[in-house]
Amino acid sequence: MVMSLRETTTLHNGVKMPWFGLGVYKVKDGSEASESVRIAIQNGYRSIDTAAIYKNEEGVGQGIKESGIPREELFITSKVWNADQGYESTLTAFDQSLKRLELDYLDLYLIHWPVEGKFIETWKALEKLYKDGKVKAVGVSNFHIHHLRDLLKEAEIKPMVNQVEFHPHLTQVELKQFCESEGIQLEAWSPLKQGELLEDETIKEIAESYRKSPAQIILRWDLQQKVITIPKSIKEYRIIANADIFDFELTNEDMDRINALNKDERCGPDPDNFDF
Ligand SMILES: NC(=O)c1ccc[n+]([C@@H]2O[C@H](COP(=O)([O-])OP(=O)(O)OC[C@H]3O[C@@H](n4cnc5c(N)ncnc54)[C@H](OP(=O)(O)O)[C@@H]3O)[C@@H](O)[C@H]2O)c1
Repeated sequence: MVMSLRETTTLHNGVKMPWFGLGVYKVKDGSEASESVRIAIQNGYRSIDTAAIYKNEEGVGQGIKESGIPREELFITSKVWNADQGYESTLTAFDQSLKRLELDYLDLYLIHWPVEGKFIETWKALEKLYKDGKVKAVGVSNFHIHHLRDLLKEAEIKPMVNQVEFHPHLTQVELKQFCESEGIQLEAWSPLKQGELLEDETIKEIAESYRKSPAQIILRWDLQQKVITIPKSIKEYRIIANADIFDFELTNEDMDRINALNKDERCGPDPDNFDF
């Protein structure tokens, strides 16, 4: 049972990754990004999830510096964008991300989407970065089971993480089981369905019974099923409140009530059908 913001899961290569972190999708570069990151870290967050395509790596890097927390205590994730996939172009994209972040290594680097015909080559580049010690762990994002199977056939190093859309309307039961059986840690993006789930009547009712907010209920539900979660907020009071989920435990009955909300409904694109 995860009982503090500092707790980590151990990835299959032995690297420790926090169960909880801050997402920064749609956070503007500059002070919006640096302030969100600084506030989160100063309030106990240790993991930050960015991506080249978010175009805020410079602000994120600035926030990391301003936090005053030593680099080795932090866990920083970025992702290679679709247009940069391929072997050499991924190596270049990685260096550019590092430069923008003003860091000399990443904790986790992910393939952002499974671009057909490209993602195997891209993976080879991630393996090289990993072997060269430039990144502590490598993984994928938005990979269905069939993408993972194709990758595993060719991979020398198994992905440590798969970051996918995951929330009470999209519980990803089969993918979760597959990842567990392969030792790949699942990580939830849009855990709050970008805010939409906060109005759900069942979630609201459960929240009242624990004297917690709907967001806190959903984020606790993630952790109790061993899924890493990275809610995004740029508001200090929400950044703090979203992480205040370590003083209660959902009963099995309430976990089941939330699981039953599944509709296999996405707020983002299906990885089998994206065109960017
Ligand atoms: N790999 C991928 O393809 C992928 C795709 C999407 C996202 N991600 C990652 O996952 C992270 C999280 O996903 P997301 O940003 O799409 O969505 P999310 O975390 O589900 O929701 C963020 C939205 O909810 C609001 N919010 C946050 N906490 C709240 C609270 N306690 N009460 C009310 N509203 C709240 C935020 O607004 P305010 O900021 O105004 O508080 C924002 O509009 C991203 O930031 C990104 O790092 C990855």
